Amino acid sequence: MGSAAVTTFFLLCALSPFLTLSGPVSMPSISPNFTASYLQFIDNSGAFLASQKNSFQARITNSKPESRSFYFVIVHVSSKTIIWSANRNFPISESSQLRLTTGGLTLYNDTGYPLWSTPQRLPSVASLQLLESGNLVLLDAMNNTVWESFDFPTDVLVVGQKLGIGKSLVSSVSDEDLSEGSYRLVVGNYDAMLQWNGMNYWRLSMYKTAFRDTNFPVEHMVMNFTGVYLMGQNGEEVVIKVILNDSKDISSSFQIVKLDQSGVFSIVSINPLDGSKKEEFRGPSDSCRIPFICRRLGVCTNRGSCQCAPAFHVDPKMSNGDCVPTDGYLALPGPCNGSSSDKTSIKYLNLRSDLDYFSNDFMDSVSHGVNLSVCQNLCSSNCSCLGIFYSQGSGSCYMIRNYLGSILIKSSSTDRLGYIKTIEVRNPNANLGNKKSNFPVSAVVLLPSSGIIVIALIVTLIWLRGRRRRWKKIQRSKLERGNSSSSAEEMDFISIPGLPVRFDYRELAEATRDFSTQIGSGGFGTVYKGTLQDGADVAVKKITCLGSQGKKEFLTEIAVIGKIHHVNLVRLKGFCASRGQRFLVYEYMNCGSLDHTLFQSEPILEWNERFEIAVGTARGLAYLHSGCDHKIIHCDVKPENILLHDKSQVKISDFGLSKLLSPEQSSLFTTLRGTRGYLAPEWLTSSAISDKSDVYSYGMVLLELIRGKKNSSPQVQSNSSGTPSSFSSGESGHRLIYFPLFALEMHEARRYQELVDPRFMGRVRNEEVERLVRVALCCVHEEPNLRPSMSNVVGMLEGVVPVWEPRIESLNFLRFYGRRFTEASTLGERSEQNEAMLCQQPLTNTTSSYSSFSYISSQEVSGPR
Ligand SMILES: *[C@@H]1O[C@H](CO)[C@@H](O)[C@H](O)[C@H]1NC(C)=O
Ligand SMILES: *[C@@H]1O[C@H](CO)[C@@H](O)[C@H](O)[C@H]1NC(C)=O
Ligand SMILES: *[C@@H]1O[C@H](CO)[C@@H](O)[C@H](O)[C@H]1NC(C)=O
Ligand SMILES: *[C@@H]1O[C@H](CO)[C@@H](O)[C@H](O)[C@H]1NC(C)=O
Ligand SMILES: *[C@@H]1O[C@H](CO)[C@@H](O)[C@H](O)[C@H]1NC(C)=O
Ligand SMILES: *[C@@H]1O[C@H](CO)[C@@H](O)[C@H](O)[C@H]1NC(C)=O
Ligand SMILES: *[C@@H]1O[C@H](CO)[C@@H](O)[C@H](O)[C@H]1NC(C)=O
Ligand SMILES: *[C@@H]1O[C@H](CO)[C@@H](O)[C@H](O)[C@H]1NC(C)=O
Repeated sequence: MGSAAVTTFFLLCALSPFLTLSGPVSMPSISPNFTASYLQFIDNSGAFLASQKNSFQARITNSKPESRSFYFVIVHVSSKTIIWSANRNFPISESSQLRLTTGGLTLYNDTGYPLWSTPQRLPSVASLQLLESGNLVLLDAMNNTVWESFDFPTDVLVVGQKLGIGKSLVSSVSDEDLSEGSYRLVVGNYDAMLQWNGMNYWRLSMYKTAFRDTNFPVEHMVMNFTGVYLMGQNGEEVVIKVILNDSKDISSSFQIVKLDQSGVFSIVSINPLDGSKKEEFRGPSDSCRIPFICRRLGVCTNRGSCQCAPAFHVDPKMSNGDCVPTDGYLALPGPCNGSSSDKTSIKYLNLRSDLDYFSNDFMDSVSHGVNLSVCQNLCSSNCSCLGIFYSQGSGSCYMIRNYLGSILIKSSSTDRLGYIKTIEVRNPNANLGNKKSNFPVSAVVLLPSSGIIVIALIVTLIWLRGRRRRWKKIQRSKLERGNSSSSAEEMDFISIPGLPVRFDYRELAEATRDFSTQIGSGGFGTVYKGTLQDGADVAVKKITCLGSQGKKEFLTEIAVIGKIHHVNLVRLKGFCASRGQRFLVYEYMNCGSLDHTLFQSEPILEWNERFEIAVGTARGLAYLHSGCDHKIIHCDVKPENILLHDKSQVKISDFGLSKLLSPEQSSLFTTLRGTRGYLAPEWLTSSAISDKSDVYSYGMVLLELIRGKKNSSPQVQSNSSGTPSSFSSGESGHRLIYFPLFALEMHEARRYQELVDPRFMGRVRNEEVERLVRVALCCVHEEPNLRPSMSNVVGMLEGVVPVWEPRIESLNFLRFYGRRFTEASTLGERSEQNEAMLCQQPLTNTTSSYSSFSYISSQEVSGPR
């Protein structure tokens, strides 16, 4: 392989811009008549301009590796933090251009239409520079600044950047979608305010260590390493200050003020060496004051959980967790479009007397000294009014307008009572009204809580380390492990944010007609088909091999899995934990698993269907690895865990479940199931398990998709056309194939058609096979670092990223595997070791096969190095 290819390979490794560091960009200043696009600077993660010491880079990049939305951003290099983006509301594509002319900077879409630009009629621009502070400036010929990014902040403020009066930070919709969300930090005359859809919910002076120095009008907000300040009097006098604990090493720290997507305003210091973040300050400090923390009409309690307000419940038809009236004949008013609805159909639902609304403390009442019916009439006659709070004592009437957020528990002793406006509906969906009893704890709705996720991630990492160490130990461990000890306890209600719907045992027994239709069984237990009362088909998985961890840990894992939503991942709809038994309720996939469809003889899975399955599976895994808040390693990627719906939709199942096993069981699970053909070599050696281990398994699955047969199912093939030496076997004229090795050799010989499922009878184009084969071989590189990430795989399959050249030196281990395979097969007495290594037939009798795994040393399996 040429050195150019090797170089390309390494550069591609650096593709995911926020996961890897890229090399320094030497260009300190750029002159007009310059253009850039992501593809043009792909080797540098899209970076084309760097500050003097390379602390900051200007890049055209996507916010997540697999995302198709590209932004022109400034990134703090060592902490990988985006501090500014030009086109947050107008993402571009990877080939769209940024142009610097003497008139300024402009971003064009693919057809040359300007999507974003610096203001027109700037004085003639002579250069573009990125300063060491992170400020992107346009300079004229005399080096005067004519435009600077510091004047147009997005959701972050860095040290030295001023946020002037009337300007604001606006939250992003999500980490991936940088466009403007609904939260804002606005600098006002006397304070800095947080707003949600224009309604105030917090001000800086509310912070417990905030101090008002003077009463001058505020001019701007600024931050340095000692704290955050509102300044007045030409920037000379402090108006309000919040001083931080000053125990950090200022010289090595990078600090930002950020308004995040959930509405939290915080100061975060980031250690540039390891990227670790420390929150120095957070507002509001009481997270229940965040307007949408519990979504619409969820009551936020101090314990950090959400429940619908009385008389409301989570809409069982909707997955978003919004609360709706429990009474099916009432509904929340629709969008206000000017036409006032019939007043007689309006009803008000009382809120409990201990409940309050975030905006009440920040808004004037709409009227004083009126009675309740006047207050309600005011609301009824205006369609933008969604509810009222009324104070009996003062006769004050407060309105909730336009947007309805979460409800909080009263903190002050006020006598105001809340009334939520609803509209009577004549034809309620019969299901809605009757359904409530079937969702006993449905009131527990999502509460964004990054803490849990971080903990879950740490637990995963620790667990994965422990798991490897124990691999040798399991040689003597028992196969059957009583699962009574841990699960005997009854699970009472534990409040864990993000828990999906909880079913009770009776419901599941009814839904599955007493577990009568078994549709599968796997390493975690048995799967039954069921139908919920709302008619939805589900797959109910009864977990039999359960770890010894407590119920709280179990529920925490469930909460993590339940929050993962992606079109290529099977959705967890709910769970049941009762009578010492645990069930997971998944959406039902009507075409079963890939192994069934792919390996059956008729009808065959068409090439384009296989391709879609390959891409879908890759997307799902990419999402697990990097697309969501926390990384999940599947650990058991194989056709049995790739499910199909209507033949075209593909979803991965069983992700996140490996964490539910006890260490003993999980290593057992590894050896019994994973080893068999899909398991990366590092599982059996001392190297670390990572997302790249899933990539290996995926590569093996891809080879099976190409061939339509199990990789290791021995196939005797006619020896007519140029036999590779390693396949010569005892029987003349025939050779036995270990398919991954055959794929390597055919790749070397560039004879890709030989690899494709013969049943296609030449209907598949050579280039298409070649693409898949090359991707698959790159995925099974022995050295994990040489395998592409799943998002790279998606890019290569979609043709967005050039397909890598497989590296032969990292594939030679296949020759060893293949030799063992051929030897064993030729002798007709396939040794048990090879069985363990190479065979992937469904395990029917675990107990008897088990002993055969116990003596494979890691050396034997990983081969000579
Ligand atoms: C940029 O290009 C324009 C037209 O293509 C040309 O008139 C101008 O002189 C160029 N400027 C520089 C600095 O090269
Ligand atoms: C570019 O923007 C113009 C105007 O909005 C639109 O008509 C055109 O389709 C866009 N091109 C692409 C490739 O998105
Ligand atoms: C502008 O700054 C550059 C270096 O940043 C310098 O080389 C150049 O002489 C300066 N021009 C003027 C007019 O000061
Ligand atoms: C931080 O800024 C405040 C307000 O401008 C100032 O009083 C203080 O001296 C600054 N501290 C440092 C270490 O620069
Ligand atoms: C600041 O220090 C005080 C006392 O040392 C401590 O209670 C508080 O939690 C610290 N605050 C932060 C944000 O670290
Ligand atoms: C206003 O919205 C309501 C319900 O959303 C709808 O029934 C009505 O037709 C709309 N009126 C107009 C003028 O759009
Ligand atoms: C509320 O006040 C209005 C006018 O002030 C009056 O007409 C109405 O009777 C009062 N309603 C009640 C229930 O007291
Ligand atoms: C409804 O209330 C909003 C906000 O107070 C106000 O702007 C609007 O004019 C009112 N509409 C009517 C029809 O009274």
